Amino acid sequence: MLKKFCILLSLLVLSRGQKQRCDQTPPQATVITPSDNMGIYRMSISTKGNDTNIYRPDQTYVLKLTTNNATRPFRWFMITVEDPEMDNNPEYDPKLVDVGSLKTIDTNKQSRYSERCYNSVENTDNSDKYKVEIHWVSPKQNARRQKVRLRAMVAENKEVWHVGENLTITLEKDDRRPLDSPPYPPEPNCNLCSEAQYEVIFNGRWSRMTHPRYYPSKPDDNGYSHLVGASHSFSHTIWQPADQASPGLQKLAEEADISLIEREIIDSMSPLNGTRTLIIGKRRFHPNMGEPSHSLFRVDNVHHLFSLVVAIKPSPDWFLGAYKFELCTNVGWLKESEIPLFPWDAGTMDGVSYESVPSITQPRDVVSRVAVGSFNKESPFYQMNLNEMKPFALLQVRLLNVFPLVGAECSQEDSVFTCSEVQNDLQEEQRENPKEKEDEKEEPMISELKIAEECISSEWGECLLNTV
Ligand SMILES: *[C@@H]1O[C@H](CO)[C@@H](O)[C@H](O)[C@H]1NC(C)=O
Ligand SMILES: *[C@@H]1O[C@H](CO)[C@@H](O)[C@H](O)[C@H]1NC(C)=O
Ligand SMILES: *[C@@H]1O[C@H](CO)[C@@H](O)[C@H](O)[C@H]1NC(C)=O
Ligand SMILES: *[C@@H]1O[C@H](CO)[C@@H](O)[C@H](O)[C@H]1NC(C)=O
Repeated sequence: MLKKFCILLSLLVLSRGQKQRCDQTPPQATVITPSDNMGIYRMSISTKGNDTNIYRPDQTYVLKLTTNNATRPFRWFMITVEDPEMDNNPEYDPKLVDVGSLKTIDTNKQSRYSERCYNSVENTDNSDKYKVEIHWVSPKQNARRQKVRLRAMVAENKEVWHVGENLTITLEKDDRRPLDSPPYPPEPNCNLCSEAQYEVIFNGRWSRMTHPRYYPSKPDDNGYSHLVGASHSFSHTIWQPADQASPGLQKLAEEADISLIEREIIDSMSPLNGTRTLIIGKRRFHPNMGEPSHSLFRVDNVHHLFSLVVAIKPSPDWFLGAYKFELCTNVGWLKESEIPLFPWDAGTMDGVSYESVPSITQPRDVVSRVAVGSFNKESPFYQMNLNEMKPFALLQVRLLNVFPLVGAECSQEDSVFTCSEVQNDLQEEQRENPKEKEDEKEEPMISELKIAEECISSEWGECLLNTV
């Protein structure tokens, strides 16, 4: 009885699972089982180099369906993109998962979107086909560690059609950090009992030599905006991908005008949250775009991150920048770092190239990478992977000075600089274990000394210490 019930249950699950999985059997088929492919038909994808089974988020890939036998074309086909997780989960809802999108190519009328299945394209006619090309735009950047399966069917005729081997590609998301990531991820709490002074240097690298495709026709008008940004707290955002651009960032990206974003930064200055030091660096124009632009700024254990932006002109609404760059690490203030910068799109103006006549993006989009790997031939980034693109700038940041906070200031309960979780924990402990109070009190001093010693021995400048 129980056995019977189990079989029934698994049948139920199976049929529900099948309902969601796209059935690629050609509607014309008179034979319902697929035939052996024998390696004649093949689907391939334009992944580069070592990335054979890997996709990068938000990139365009070219899928090709081919026959390797000139006497055996195919008449019908279907390509479906899906999450292989659906095989194991009967509750799986393909509508809720971003597997990217398949795009038919306008110049090629062989394919259209399928009405039978989600995320599928199929043939438009019965003609003999030897090669079909489709574009796939991979899923947007998100937190999921996601696999994607591309599944094709080709049919020679009503009796002979193929699926499976050589017609299925499974790709895993590339989890390597983007090249332009800061060395440390943002952390909510900073445990350092000191302030620090940094220098940030923007080194422009955008030139006809490095970025020849659609390089602007009148380079005399090329230029960067001022470098603008701030040191700020963990919960303050000047800009970040997937957020809408602030009015200040919009004005900067569209007009290279920093007035509004500067105002936003100044208005957010606060000892407890928000911004601390305004970062402003010189504008650089053609032919001096390779000359550095630099600025000094201060950080503390509230404002231990920095963000900055530089607009590139001409462009619809593109800018370079870093966001939530963490400088507080558990071994002290970051000494130095250099990251490449690649262009971002503020999401407010449409335009595929530097000199495109821009139009207002409706509805307004969020900040994202410029369409790298775009399949628009007008784009400077046509069919390009981020790891092939030359940086538009290099951003250097280096520690100049560390200023320890005096022990009293650091441990003061009502101090602006409520120093570190460790210390808050200590204070908790002290209330509970008054006996240990004397010993524990030394803690902040020790950590300051450590920082001071490190700083003195560092090559990044002298420490202005007279407190220890
Ligand atoms: C591909 O991988 C091999 C071995 O891991 C490595 O030596 C080679 O440099 C890689 N090539 C590229 C282009 O990353
Ligand atoms: C192509 O297919 C035909 C018909 O099946 C077969 O006779 C021929 O040998 C094949 N040619 C190649 C090069 O495989
Ligand atoms: C088809 O798949 C088989 C088995 O995975 C593989 O050995 C063969 O090289 C593939 N053929 C083509 C043309 O990719
Ligand atoms: C800081 O400000 C942001 C909004 O700008 C707010 O969401 C966050 O809760 C604030 N954090 C603290 C610790 O006050």
